[in-house]
Amino acid sequence: MKKIDGISRRDFIRSSALLSYMFLPGIGRIHAQPAHLRNLRDYSGRLCYNENPLGPAPLAQAAIEDNASMAHRYPDWFSTGLENTIAGFHGIDADMICVGTGATEVIRLIADAFLNPGDELITATPTYFQISVEATANGAVSIHVPVEPNYIIDLSSISAAITENTKIISLVNPNNPLATIIHKDDMESFISALPAGVIVVVDEAYHHYVQTQDYESCLPYVLEGLPVIVVRTFSKVYGLAGARIGYSVASQELTGLIASSQLFGTVSRMSQAAAQAALDDTDHLNSTINENNMAMNILIDGFVNLGLSYIPSETNFIMVDVGTNAIPVRNQLADLGYLVRTGWDMPNYLRISTGTVAEMVGFRDALESILTLGLIEPIVIPRQFGLNSVLPNPFNARCRIDFSIIESGRVKLTVYDTLGRQIKSLMNSLLKPGQHKVDWDGKDSLGIPVASGIYILVLLQGELAANRSITLLK
Ligand SMILES: Cc1ncc(COP(=O)(O)O)c(C=O)c1O
Repeated sequence: MKKIDGISRRDFIRSSALLSYMFLPGIGRIHAQPAHLRNLRDYSGRLCYNENPLGPAPLAQAAIEDNASMAHRYPDWFSTGLENTIAGFHGIDADMICVGTGATEVIRLIADAFLNPGDELITATPTYFQISVEATANGAVSIHVPVEPNYIIDLSSISAAITENTKIISLVNPNNPLATIIHKDDMESFISALPAGVIVVVDEAYHHYVQTQDYESCLPYVLEGLPVIVVRTFSKVYGLAGARIGYSVASQELTGLIASSQLFGTVSRMSQAAAQAALDDTDHLNSTINENNMAMNILIDGFVNLGLSYIPSETNFIMVDVGTNAIPVRNQLADLGYLVRTGWDMPNYLRISTGTVAEMVGFRDALESILTLGLIEPIVIPRQFGLNSVLPNPFNARCRIDFSIIESGRVKLTVYDTLGRQIKSLMNSLLKPGQHKVDWDGKDSLGIPVASGIYILVLLQGELAANRSITLLK
């Protein structure tokens, strides 16, 4: 057997294998991949739509599968079974519920029912925009009342904006994109002082995520017979965004008007079944809330470490001030596989939806590397992580090591001897994706020249690892 400086090739392979075992902790990737490496079904890193990263409620998924064999039959035309289930869930009459293809359809139905040319809609800004678009489409005027400096919807100014033409006041509570809530006492005073003829639509898409006791759903106002319409969705906490189901809760009279222009058969059989089952899946709901809380803590810790200010969130997304124009940061994050949102006339803010804990760790590291290393655009992301070359090899006085990384984050490059002992750390830093180089002068961490022989270079980043042998000849 060929011997290299007293070490047999078999020993070398064995020790490399040992190193591989020790330092190659699995081949699976946890972090989101750069967008260009993803296949179409890989949604990891999609932090821009406030979706549920845990997937659909398992009971809902089973219901979809059970009903797939009946896909050739039309569904319950007006989702009557589902409306009964939702009514039972809230303890109200079924004719107070109107189910639609997502809150999106329900919001359109509400606008169609109540907004006509000359009417006014009052809403906050920034907020979820759909109802304003529907108002404009119906010839009504949208009045946008800025939120308070603390980003909470300004109910006093909204009240002050009411005129005799006001038909709807739309409140998104918790608000999107700001993730703030209206204090329950403020809501109560506001609703109790409403002039006759004004309907308040409260979009509670993110109701389940709220942690503070200062918040309350507006459903009780509906039960009291007040002109309040609550909108809910199955897209968020129930994980059914792709199934498209939402509903409104309102008095029988208002519900009749909302439903009056709805087409029949809009909600599929599978979606109706999924929503019914989702309401029973409390395990999934609890896991979703737990994951959201953990994800939020990771994000907030990351923001605090970076000295970034953020708007405290009561939802599954959060606004953070990145201290600079957020658009290049958003683009850079997208290059690294994390899709987030900007806009709403808040130029320094990113809106980040929570993902799984693993996604959050990856996102936090990516944001850190972008903000601490500075932006270079455009960046060319290598297609593979790895040690590309060591030149010369064998080497005598000095060699140059070339390596590629495909996502931002902490990278370690270390020299070991064939017994697995650490000789020198060549790199332990936050790096951006790209080609990188580092030199080794054949000395150990104390600056003492090491003996001739074979050494192992180990490159590590998160779950990714690569190694390569290098020979020192004196
Ligand atoms: C506040 C708010 N309302 C409604 C919707 C739309 O819900 P759906 O998916 O049920 O159409 C969203 C979607 O993100 C939202 O943020």
